[in-house]
Amino acid sequence: MALAPLARDVFGVRFQNPIVLASGTAGYGRELDGVMELDRLGGLVTKAVSLQPRVGNAPPRVAEFRGGMLNSVGLANPGLAHVRTAEMPWLLGRLRAARVLVNVVGFTLEEYAAVIEGLDDLDGITAYELNLSCPNTAAGGIEFGADPASVSAVIARCRRVTKRPLVAKLSPVLPDIAGMAVVARDAGADGVSVVNTLPGLALDPHGVPRLGNGNGGASGPALLPAGVLAVRRVRERAADLPVIGLGGVRSADDARQYLAAGASLVGIGTGGMADPRLPGRIIRDLERRHG
Ligand SMILES: Cc1cc2nc3c(=O)[nH]c(=O)nc-3n(C[C@H](O)[C@H](O)[C@H](O)COP(=O)(O)O)c2cc1C
Repeated sequence: MALAPLARDVFGVRFQNPIVLASGTAGYGRELDGVMELDRLGGLVTKAVSLQPRVGNAPPRVAEFRGGMLNSVGLANPGLAHVRTAEMPWLLGRLRAARVLVNVVGFTLEEYAAVIEGLDDLDGITAYELNLSCPNTAAGGIEFGADPASVSAVIARCRRVTKRPLVAKLSPVLPDIAGMAVVARDAGADGVSVVNTLPGLALDPHGVPRLGNGNGGASGPALLPAGVLAVRRVRERAADLPVIGLGGVRSADDARQYLAAGASLVGIGTGGMADPRLPGRIIRDLERRHG
């Protein structure tokens, strides 16, 4: 059977299919090699990269609830220098057909830009996804992504240090997510990812938080309708802006909802952690029933 034409051009590059692994749920790829066919993916978004290593939050870091999962990993990552020398060479060498997007975090504008500058001479990076759900220490800890001026400033700052596409990753709790996508685009972003996790708190029967950090971010099936709506709203306001739709995808039909709402690419996070074969199955199902 001939392969269905799932390929698409996004950010000026060809993706062999629309399915990408979501940031933070696939590490830097190595852990998943052998468990899934990484090079069959449309792409992989790395776990966050910060300027300095981060140990992350106290355990437990993950708790399940009926609608999905709550996590407070705390952006744990080995930091720019290690990612550059020990992770990216493996990933960029291993993936031939699948695209690599690097998720970037910072606590100041300069940190975002420094991470990008520190990676930008590596061949094979398709885009940078800016995780804007990160506290801005210079603004009293308000998340970058919650304030239009900060969104604009961080994208403009990053735009000065790279020619590669920049994708702004936005939170589902924004009162006007489409308006923020327009702010991001006007500041120089080439696309947006919607949605990041939803802030939440899970308590045990004694009223004690189930996560070491207290609260966390909810992901998984409960996010699906919020993510699909976010994609639709962004597309209505910014028809020309590529959107990575994600949140709650567990089946090809879920992915189709995102595509029908206007997503160019569809991310899979929690669903792939629960079942590493899921992304491959979704790709095969999309191929079989395409058109
Ligand atoms: C364990 C875990 C770690 C995550 N780490 C990151 C991260 O480092 N950067 C980021 O932008 N999003 C991160 N996310 C958010 C996911 O990329 C995704 O936006 C969210 O989980 C919704 O998709 P899902 O329902 O398919 O998991 C993380 C999610 C989980 C569950």
